[in-house]
Amino acid sequence: MRNNPPSFNALCNDLEQALQTRGDAWRIASLATLSNNRPELRSVILRTLDIDKHLLTIYTDRRSEKVNQLIKNPECALLCWCPIRQQQLRLSCIATIKFEQNNVWLTLSANQRKDYATIIAPGRPLQNENADMEIGFSAQNFCVIECNINHIEWLRINSDGHLRARVSPEESQWICP
Ligand SMILES: Cc1cc2nc3c(=O)[nH]c(=O)nc-3n(C[C@H](O)[C@H](O)[C@H](O)COP(=O)(O)O)c2cc1C
Repeated sequence: MRNNPPSFNALCNDLEQALQTRGDAWRIASLATLSNNRPELRSVILRTLDIDKHLLTIYTDRRSEKVNQLIKNPECALLCWCPIRQQQLRLSCIATIKFEQNNVWLTLSANQRKDYATIIAPGRPLQNENADMEIGFSAQNFCVIECNINHIEWLRINSDGHLRARVSPEESQWICP
């Protein structure tokens, strides 16, 4: 039996559906950046996916290390794993940092806004475990990381045989798992 590998649009559709589903494992990705040629990884929540523009968004604090790293080197990767689907997505992306995203800011709840309200920048030392907040600063600390997806590597784990494909907007190719 010969099947076609998944298309870029089909994978983006699945991911976009996942982002709208509370608790879907694909909503939490590992974001990889480079810091002086050394890899750095952290978990992030994928917020939106514009399928036509191939653009994924992540919300973050503009003072965070990942923002500095992406300004210096916009090449990045996102990794999603879903134990229910038994599928892994490896997204190869170019990031752009978007400041002054007031339209997006207005959609955040009061609780979400607190994530950007610490007086001391993320990653800096504290006197104790509590970071003081000034909610008035939070809007200016908020930014959006826009990830333009170049290609996706898709893997489905299955006891009958794994399936793996390299998928771009132009073409999809089965590859050896
Ligand atoms: C489940 C989970 C989701 C997270 N989502 C985000 C997120 O959407 N944006 C973000 O900036 N940090 C998020 N974080 C925190 C990051 O993993 C990281 O600790 C923080 O952003 C600092 O990273 P940096 O110093 O590399 O910039 C999340 C952490 C966890 C555990």
